[in-house]
Amino acid sequence: MIVTISLNGKKITEDISADMTLYQFVREHGCYSVKCGCETTNCGLCTVFLNDKPVLSCAVLAARADGQKVETLEGLQKEAEEFGRFIADQGAEQCGFCNPGMIMNAIALFRETADPTDEEIRRYLAGNLCRCSGYEGQLRGIHEFMKYKKEGGASWAK
Ligand code: FES
Ligand code: FES
Repeated sequence: MIVTISLNGKKITEDISADMTLYQFVREHGCYSVKCGCETTNCGLCTVFLNDKPVLSCAVLAARADGQKVETLEGLQKEAEEFGRFIADQGAEQCGFCNPGMIMNAIALFRETADPTDEEIRRYLAGNLCRCSGYEGQLRGIHEFMKYKKEGGASWAK
């Protein structure tokens, strides 16, 4: 089947198999930040934005993205760099494997919610498994980022 998908701002028209996942599609187009940790919708590593909303690309058929906008971390460099340094400063980036998925969901959270509570942050990031950090460093990094945002940083965040 022929689909046309806008991937990180670039329109791609391609003949794909009906069972191709969105995860396979973005990887085949060089978006290697998107990783597969489980294929069972449990780890969050494969998170991409489909029309600005985070989805697990291992669980979405590429055909569903026909005519839609898809973004990966490769297309969100400014936001990722601006937020990512707060995570790195807290030592929460250990092996780094979970980071792209966590950063995608954090960006979605900051776009949607101006001042999330700890409970909201934990709920929002609950689908992102990290085997190294214990999540506390990530939470500290998010709080530091929110302080920076209140001081006028990160104009892309709410
Ligand atoms: S690979 Fe998609 S949630 Fe784990
Ligand atoms: S830093 Fe290693 S899995 Fe999260």
